[in-house]
Amino acid sequence: MTRALRTMAYPRSCWTSTFWFSWVLALVMASGGQQQTVFDASFASLIDAGANGSIDWRVSVSKDWDVLGPFPIHAREQHFLSPAFPLNLSEPLDHTAQWPSSYADNGTVGWTTARARDDGTLDVSFPEIRWSSLRATEGWAALQSHSVLHTTITIYPPPSQDGQSANPPKLLVDLLQGSFFTVLPPKNHESTEGVVPTWYAGNIYAMDRAPPQVVPLPRDPSATEPTAYDLFVSGDYEIRLFGDPLFNSRRDGIPVLSLTLSASLLTSSKAEVILLPSHDVTCDFADGWAFGDALGVGVRSLSGWWTVGNVSLTTITEPSPIELQLLNATRIAPSQTRIVPIRISQRAAYYASSIELDLHLTSSTTLTTLHVILPVTQLPQWTPSNSPSEGIMASYFFATSMPTAFRVIPPELPNDGDPHPAVLALHGAGVDIITMPFWIQALPRQERSWVIAPTGRTAWGLDWHGPSTQDAWSTVDALYAIVASRESWHLYMLAENTRVLVLGHSNGGQGAWYIASRYPDRVAAAIPAAGYIKSQSYVPLIHSRSAHYIDPPLRAILESSLTPDDNDLFMSNLVDTPILAIHGGDDENVPVWHTREAVSVLKTWDPNANATYVEDQGQTHWYPAVFDNDHVKAFMRSLLEQGAVGAVSQSKSFTLTVSVPSDSGAMHGWRILSLQTPGRLARLTVRVEDDLVSVRTTNVKSFSIHRLTNGIQLTVDDRPLHINETINDPVVLQFSIHDKMWTVENSIVTPNIQNTGRLSNILNSVAPLLIVIPDNSTDRMLSVAGRIAHNLDIYHKLDAEIIFADEALRRLQTGSLGRGNIVAFGDVDNSFTRHILVDSRTPFQIHGTNLFIKGRQLGQPSAAALFLHPHPSVDSALVMIVFAGRDSGLEKGLRLCPIRTGVTVPDWLLIGTSTDAVGAAGIDGAGVWGVNWDWNEAMSWL
Ligand SMILES: *[C@@H]1O[C@H](CO)[C@@H](O)[C@H](O)[C@H]1NC(C)=O
Ligand SMILES: *[C@@H]1O[C@H](CO)[C@@H](O)[C@H](O)[C@H]1NC(C)=O
Ligand SMILES: *[C@@H]1O[C@H](CO)[C@@H](O)[C@H](O)[C@H]1NC(C)=O
Ligand SMILES: *[C@@H]1O[C@H](CO)[C@@H](O)[C@H](O)[C@H]1NC(C)=O
Ligand SMILES: *[C@@H]1O[C@H](CO)[C@@H](O)[C@H](O)[C@H]1NC(C)=O
Repeated sequence: MTRALRTMAYPRSCWTSTFWFSWVLALVMASGGQQQTVFDASFASLIDAGANGSIDWRVSVSKDWDVLGPFPIHAREQHFLSPAFPLNLSEPLDHTAQWPSSYADNGTVGWTTARARDDGTLDVSFPEIRWSSLRATEGWAALQSHSVLHTTITIYPPPSQDGQSANPPKLLVDLLQGSFFTVLPPKNHESTEGVVPTWYAGNIYAMDRAPPQVVPLPRDPSATEPTAYDLFVSGDYEIRLFGDPLFNSRRDGIPVLSLTLSASLLTSSKAEVILLPSHDVTCDFADGWAFGDALGVGVRSLSGWWTVGNVSLTTITEPSPIELQLLNATRIAPSQTRIVPIRISQRAAYYASSIELDLHLTSSTTLTTLHVILPVTQLPQWTPSNSPSEGIMASYFFATSMPTAFRVIPPELPNDGDPHPAVLALHGAGVDIITMPFWIQALPRQERSWVIAPTGRTAWGLDWHGPSTQDAWSTVDALYAIVASRESWHLYMLAENTRVLVLGHSNGGQGAWYIASRYPDRVAAAIPAAGYIKSQSYVPLIHSRSAHYIDPPLRAILESSLTPDDNDLFMSNLVDTPILAIHGGDDENVPVWHTREAVSVLKTWDPNANATYVEDQGQTHWYPAVFDNDHVKAFMRSLLEQGAVGAVSQSKSFTLTVSVPSDSGAMHGWRILSLQTPGRLARLTVRVEDDLVSVRTTNVKSFSIHRLTNGIQLTVDDRPLHINETINDPVVLQFSIHDKMWTVENSIVTPNIQNTGRLSNILNSVAPLLIVIPDNSTDRMLSVAGRIAHNLDIYHKLDAEIIFADEALRRLQTGSLGRGNIVAFGDVDNSFTRHILVDSRTPFQIHGTNLFIKGRQLGQPSAAALFLHPHPSVDSALVMIVFAGRDSGLEKGLRLCPIRTGVTVPDWLLIGTSTDAVGAAGIDGAGVWGVNWDWNEAMSWL
């Protein structure tokens, strides 16, 4: 692949996925077609009969679309509003009606039309809107907009059929860059009154490794004549997805929403379980030895429940140099995709170019075997002069059992004594480091430090927060374990829990600010390039629809769920971290003021902070020299020459800022463990003068300190605190406040670290999530479980197991529920939900069949409640309950499940009926839990 292709392609690839797509295809062609493409061959073979139009069912999507919009919206607000806003889809459509929209001349918009291209791509734009005039006062916020799009989808029966024996097909739908879609029963066939649309999430980031959604038809199609269905799409223009229209190929300032919809059919005569090679995970072999212990095989059930019960090697003569072990029996729900975890171990070197194995599966009625060929890359042992051009692909089990790959560049030279810090490199949004080697190739190989490029789960992940941060740190630990596993690699050992130099570009630059300021003791230095401060600064929320209706204190409580992401608020934690911040002076994608402002905030905390800002004049968002230049190299060299655990310079006075304690590490050994009022910031200011350490706290309930030297005098909030002399070498000293009196806890138990504050903490799981649904689940309920599992797979490659409530209760009783977080759907019909609510461990209670909080009953039948609840058997794990009895409530609850960043969902929410039209203003109650899951008056709205 040529450098020209790379440099040409990257500028938009980090944001606009459409551009990135064509780049992937170019890459596939350039490498002789050997790369994994975005779609799976196995799917192609299942669906081609329909496309050939021969003997089977066929589907066609009309190229003619109706478009209603644009309506102002702020980023991610579509998760609160109805995706069909402003329509009510149970009423007939009126194609002549007008709706108010402040974007349009005269203040109203009506239906228009658009036509898709042959490849299914639909470009929607509104050239009659005076965008430049809106933009002059409102900036990028004025380009955020929502539209409803409608077309028809037609199913044709097989031509020569007796009609009776033809099984009705299911749809397979890929929607790239749309928020949600739904398929409704045939027009004019029956009244759609009372029909609750099933909204499927589109693949809004056009993410790689995204299987299509399996969509059961809402009514069986006719076996004798074509049947038309309505297809509606929620189309939402976001700067982060489509970029600034002054810098696209047309440069006319008109935002173009560009979606791609493709549909095919799945007929039930086809295989019921298939391999999904896009989901396979392997590692490279270095000098004949696997660089990791995890392999993964992607499997999708098209219908039925399947269990992978065993795995066996094939075509290897005994005794085999490698051994495979199925880590866990893997149960796959209908339409679910999972990655089967397989541990690889070796007795001897292995040099073949693939590993062949059989997966043995059972369903309730059948046994089947799937034969898998996993290609592996054999690399020579790295040397000072020779290192693989795409780095080494390593693998490990994330969160106990999720096979995960990452790339590393080995150091040139073995250790010369103690190990040196590693380099942790965070990619930009839309960059898939497995299929796009350019990111690892942009990073210079280091003399004695490893360079580690994690996936962050996926190309977007959670913007390097939550599970993406967890993945970043876990890859560092995994590399330590891999290098330690083989004696001949010990010359290159990392320190255990090594400190790192964290760098990143774009979303990864933002991630570098994030990780450095939340884990200051593990970060030796940071090089954030072209990063943004936080989402609300990137594109302001001023065109919020809900803001015109919402009680401002409620808005404040909802927006407290963004606080843990707000990098500016945590700059106090960086005063002792060397920083080299970089931004191109003409960045068209992340405005240059972000880095200037971040550095300014830091320098306000401490004018002597070792932070250097380099503005590369005239450069845009990406330029190949961003890290590849003398000042970056000099900074890295001076920093990486230190030991991995060396002394850190410490200011005489510093302030530790924390929002959610479980999402933050220590600063100079000080750690905040819990807050007096969760939802508000907590700060600890430490001043050291000779033998005197004085600590001032704000909103802190407990904190700890490692290594407090004997003989020092400590004051906390101006009161001297006596430390028991018999504790000679304390590992952790824990301080707690009761009745405004600080005390030292002498008993050294593992501190309980507060992990609530927002719903998205449910994603921070140490094992696959369990999705628990009622025993007598309806098709809708099964679909809800399948859709959240699908979203977890596409957006985060987080594994989930779907189980029924009786199974969950059985596991609870036998102590085998596991340590993973749990999501429970349904109302009192879910016996697991009922069981865990009995103890009233949160202010939510069940009386009869109704849910109450502080005496308030969950409202109308279409309402839903979402809340975090303690795990019944594991202290540090969480349950998220999505409590809803009716379909409409379930659909709303599902859309607010915290899959994407920037959706404002604190610990608990009561969703009312009016959210469809007024978004977050339709919330009936919301709040953050207090300490120990108590009612938190200051941070609640009911
Ligand atoms: C706005 O209203 C004026 C006066 O009724 C009319 O002449 C004009 O065509 C309208 N513009 C649009 C874009 O509808
Ligand atoms: C899966 O395997 C891991 C590692 O052997 C084990 O810790 C875990 O308990 C297993 N989980 C289940 C659900 O069997
Ligand atoms: C800032 O940090 C860099 C990297 O460690 C180091 O080379 C430089 O000397 C530091 N500057 C100051 C003023 O401490
Ligand atoms: C000091 O710690 C020891 C051991 O935990 C305990 O027995 C003793 O009572 C403590 N003394 C004070 C003054 O707290
Ligand atoms: C499930 O349905 C069956 C049959 O309708 C019924 O006997 C059983 O009690 C139901 N179970 C639960 C937990 O509702």
